[in-house]
Amino acid sequence: MIFHKMLRILRTSKCVRVDRVPLTVSHSSASTFQALESKQYIPRRVVLYVPGSDERKLRKIPTIGADCVVMDCEDGVALSKKEAARSMIHTILQSQEIDFTGKDCSVRFNSVQSGLCEADMQEILSAKFLPSTVHLPKVDSVEHLEWFADKLKLALKDHKDAAKLRLIIFTESAESLLSLPEICRRGVELSRDAPFELDGIVFGSDDYCADIGATRTKEAKELAFARQYVVTVAKAFKLQAIDLVYIDYKDLGGLKIQSEEGAGMGFTGKQVIHPSQVPVVYAAFSPHPDKVEWAAALVQAFQQYQTEGKGAFTFRGQMIDMPLLLQARNILQIVSHTIR
Ligand code: COA
Ligand code: MG
Repeated sequence: MIFHKMLRILRTSKCVRVDRVPLTVSHSSASTFQALESKQYIPRRVVLYVPGSDERKLRKIPTIGADCVVMDCEDGVALSKKEAARSMIHTILQSQEIDFTGKDCSVRFNSVQSGLCEADMQEILSAKFLPSTVHLPKVDSVEHLEWFADKLKLALKDHKDAAKLRLIIFTESAESLLSLPEICRRGVELSRDAPFELDGIVFGSDDYCADIGATRTKEAKELAFARQYVVTVAKAFKLQAIDLVYIDYKDLGGLKIQSEEGAGMGFTGKQVIHPSQVPVVYAAFSPHPDKVEWAAALVQAFQQYQTEGKGAFTFRGQMIDMPLLLQARNILQIVSHTIR
């Protein structure tokens, strides 16, 4: 009962077609969560890449149930198609002709070191409507992030009143992994004044393997340290952690094993490259019904205690503090986010 009530409240949250922060709680229901106010959580259980140069695939976006869709300028796009991808993504944002309802509308730029990033930003972010999230691959150093912050300000000069873009950074080299805490610390600092808010880290396993000279295997044992480290750093900075791509997209059994492993390690989502991978990954990263029931009951108990003016309280034998409460809220926000 409680669970259904909470779901009803949360389902009043609507996503706009192509807008900044797609998950917003409506004003009336927001009061239910006033005491929990903090950064709005955007679930990214399934992070699907769609090559920005492939119009046929881009037009399929409304039919695919991923909660984060990334229109890609980077590795999914051939060098000869970079300009076409930029221009197509700009047109999609400008015209809003593709429906992103229920999805985090995002764009992956080329890396800073590619020499293509600034042109990507300038063209794509000059559109009338902005994506809610931008992804920056191959962030190897603090300097890459600082460069990006400067250029982003310039690219957004005509969007002065817009809300901050969420930023997802990629770690995909030994150098990047070693500097990851420093990069995140700077990212959080820059988030105060830059037009972005650092929101997550993606682990780019194939570039990482190439960089360290490891051979990729299905079991991904060669990536154990890096994956655990990415989760640890992400959680230390309260960021989302997005796990590697399972490249053999026809092997859904293998994908299930790897997805459940990633969710068990603490990743909050996983990258996918093909629509057939979406339901498997979505299921692995969605909270168990028992956990959802716990979260709904906890949030309701918290409201009750707040009304009675009590501070700390015990719930089902457990002392409840703010992190647990935020965890419960995140779970409810995740399940409220219906995927077609
Ligand atoms: N986004 C949207 N639609 C996609 C898609 C994607 N990433 N991948 C496949 N589809 C569509 C196809 O267009 C096809 O629909 P259609 O028959 O109406 O054209 C349907 O899903 C089935 O696709 P399928 O024929 O099995 O695969 P494909 O040969 O068209 O594409 C890949 C296979 C791997 C090339 C493709 O999935 C892809 O480009 N993925 C993204 C790769 C990428 O971005 N890599 C870089 C990030 S790691
Ligand atoms: Mg990569």
